[in-house]
Amino acid sequence: MRNVLVGLGLLVGVSLSLACAQAAAPIPAPPDGGGAVPLATRPASLGGGGGAPTAERGKQLVTEKGCIACHVIKEVQGAVGTVGPTLDGLASRPTIAGGALPTSPANLRRWLTNPPAVKPGTLMPNLGLNPGEIDSLIEFLNTLK
Ligand code: HEC
Repeated sequence: MRNVLVGLGLLVGVSLSLACAQAAAPIPAPPDGGGAVPLATRPASLGGGGGAPTAERGKQLVTEKGCIACHVIKEVQGAVGTVGPTLDGLASRPTIAGGALPTSPANLRRWLTNPPAVKPGTLMPNLGLNPGEIDSLIEFLNTLK
């Protein structure tokens, strides 16, 4: 009798845990791949309005964001501003912002994110660039050797 009860208990236990295992099983993904959002349909804002950051996009941004009003860049039409230093040869310069920072992608990101926070009193304003725009601008600035 005792054995029968233990056996029953075991059976109940096993079937219960089987039921639980089923309930906890991950919901199978639909055949089309389910929840993952394909890269191509992600919001364009992730890349600064044009997909992945590229030097080409950065080159468009220097015109769209008004950088050309203050900076010379030979290869960009209309980039004749002289409020700031020329950006030609930037990638070969050891420092930026009058020696305030060593030239590096990380420091260009700091600079473009908020110039007055890096160098109080600078004439370059915070242009409200988003991270994707900054990535593309850095790609482009790195081509200016
Ligand atoms: C209103 C004028 C103005 C605008 C607009 C402007 N800048 Fe500047 N920028 C400056 C000035 C002035 C400096 C020099 C900073 C200093 O040393 O105080 C500078 C410095 C820089 C530097 C560091 C270069 C160096 O060698 O010191 C980079 C890079 C730069 N700007 C990129 C940009 C980009 C990219 C944009 C557009 C998104 C932009 N700037 C828009 C005025 C401007």
